[in-house]
Amino acid sequence: MDIVSRFLKERTLSEEEFVLLLQQSGDAAVRETLRREALALCRNYYGNQVYIRGLIEFTNYCKNNCYYCGIRRDNPHVRRYRLSTEEILSCCREGYGLGYRTFVLQGGEDPYFTDERMTELIRQIREEYPDCAITLSIGEREKDSYRKFREAGADRYLLRHETADAAHYRSLHPEGMNFSHRIQCLYDLKELGYQVGAGFMVGSPGQKLEHMAKDLLFLQKLQPEMVGIGPFIPHHDTRYAKEQAGSVEMTLFLLSVIRILLPKVLLPATTALGTMDPVGREKGLLAGANVIMPNLSPEKNRKDYSLYDNKICTGEEAAQSIASLRKRVESVGCQVVTDRGDAVR
Ligand code: 5AD
Repeated sequence: MDIVSRFLKERTLSEEEFVLLLQQSGDAAVRETLRREALALCRNYYGNQVYIRGLIEFTNYCKNNCYYCGIRRDNPHVRRYRLSTEEILSCCREGYGLGYRTFVLQGGEDPYFTDERMTELIRQIREEYPDCAITLSIGEREKDSYRKFREAGADRYLLRHETADAAHYRSLHPEGMNFSHRIQCLYDLKELGYQVGAGFMVGSPGQKLEHMAKDLLFLQKLQPEMVGIGPFIPHHDTRYAKEQAGSVEMTLFLLSVIRILLPKVLLPATTALGTMDPVGREKGLLAGANVIMPNLSPEKNRKDYSLYDNKICTGEEAAQSIASLRKRVESVGCQVVTDRGDAVR
């Protein structure tokens, strides 16, 4: 039996076999076979419903210096900002009015937001929006901090593992960032009852098919509720300025593979995918994705949250453009729903 049929039958493969499967990502017929299966699984568990998340990028200060990231600590060209509690709450208010029932608080690892400040912020949002999910995406902390946030009312946590290969992780991050701590964080979050999102960049510098095969097996082991993947896109103020971006094609292929591997997972069609291709997110929805995360941040700060070059952030992908978003989603036979959008169990 060929590798594609084996994958469709077993829904998993060994690391070596995943490499063989990924080698076929250039084959249009293989891509189409996996895409159809992924779409069928997505329809089976989620119908044609697409969940929306209001993304609030509330600080671009970061104590880390990830080599690929535009807002890394040592980039002097970033205009740093932090939103006040009032500004964050007003993003939520606007989002709620537009139909958002999940707020994603995303930021750099900003020491200003101590456990106390975060907890207070979460408490206020929880109190004002008891019917909404609160998702955090603020990087690595200790388990005790995660516990406090959970008790304050946070439901979900996004922390991409970035790569499941320790040596590759080392090459993307400076000394002081630690692969095993990051992985430990993900298991801690699970244990604390968060719905957890892991994920990685597609086509990051030095990434080999073997690394992606490991990513897939890691995801299978972790069993996260969410998986965020998007193409790597160079940022001009990083050492990877001249590197090639990850491909849309490979990202779509991986979305389908991940949907087949974890049929019930929540899978966003990411902003990075929409940046690389004007209809990248629509293509993502047709490849097995079922979540879109429009930007709810204040307009004045959006261009300063620049993880990579040309990040789309002022036009139709803004949370405010919900009408055009609906049309885009409907153009591929799906429907935007106003719902917390928890993962099906
Ligand atoms: N290209 C694409 N994605 C990036 N991220 C950070 N920098 C880049 C880049 N240059 C992703 C990382 C991080 C998430 C918030 O954004 O995977 O976890």
